[in-house]
Amino acid sequence: MQTNMRGMDMITTQEWTKDQIDTIMEVAMDLKKKRALGIPHAYLRDKVLAMMFFFSSTRTRGSFEAGMAQLGGHPAFIDSRTTQIKHGDTTKEIGDIFGRYFDGIAIREVTWGQGNKYIRGVAEASRAPVLNMQCDIYHPHQILADLMTIIEKKGDPRGKTITVSWAYASSYLKPISVPQSLILLATRFGMNVRLVRPPEFKLMPDIVQQARDNARKHHGSFEIMEDFEAGMAGSDVIYAKSWGPLLVTADPEEGKAITDKYKDWITDERRIAMAAEDAIYMHPLPADRDIEVTSAVLDGPHSVVFDQAENRLHAQKAVMALTMS
Ligand code: CP
Repeated sequence: MQTNMRGMDMITTQEWTKDQIDTIMEVAMDLKKKRALGIPHAYLRDKVLAMMFFFSSTRTRGSFEAGMAQLGGHPAFIDSRTTQIKHGDTTKEIGDIFGRYFDGIAIREVTWGQGNKYIRGVAEASRAPVLNMQCDIYHPHQILADLMTIIEKKGDPRGKTITVSWAYASSYLKPISVPQSLILLATRFGMNVRLVRPPEFKLMPDIVQQARDNARKHHGSFEIMEDFEAGMAGSDVIYAKSWGPLLVTADPEEGKAITDKYKDWITDERRIAMAAEDAIYMHPLPADRDIEVTSAVLDGPHSVVFDQAENRLHAQKAVMALTMS
């Protein structure tokens, strides 16, 4: 177990060692057990977390707010539209000033080409740790909860096959941060990672290269496939969700026209039956029900999406307790 995480930023799991991530998992499991048993765990008494949102959220806001309160501290929800950012507050003002008020600054800014730069700018100016609640490139707290769920459901991830697949959705061009963070972390835990997507839905080349390097170093594998059903065959973990063709276009109309070519990429019972008999189905939510995935799968025996959503709470509490205490 590592004990040297106080003050660290969580912007991407790639900047944390494998041992440190193992510690997050261990602490998260312990906090989950403590909550189940009603054992108080106020490790952050009198600490305050700023939670700045530039984009909507259900799970991230709810789990960070509840988690901070359960740790004995206070979450301060800040809608970016109510700040003076549009009147001149740059990342320097936010990082330097909020770093003096708060014990941690959590930010969600998913704007393509801007979100990660914004969070990095705040982190550079802040004396308090900065936690990425999702940017355009990474969603580290989602993926920590995903790893915790995989360990709970499937045991040691090493040698297990995970299908990280694109799926069709009509609601909006979803960020690529979830599949990118997932291929980065799953390859560090020795999983056999299949990235499955139509040709227009590529991920960032440097992220894909890092995933390949991780797989080589940690004795897993990484392959890219373009056949949805072949990608499902025999897999232990089906993680199929939509994202926008952002490397081709960030224009909503152009992106929708490309996306609409692949309406048949829906996770349904026939396709889930192609995976391993005891395969689990994962999705970070929100999902476009009966468009991206059928209700029969989302609410069916393979689905672990509600346990996965719960684990956001425990994994984030572990990160907050380790970085902000
Ligand atoms: N999975 C996730 O980040 O959910 P929210 O967008 O509701 O926070």
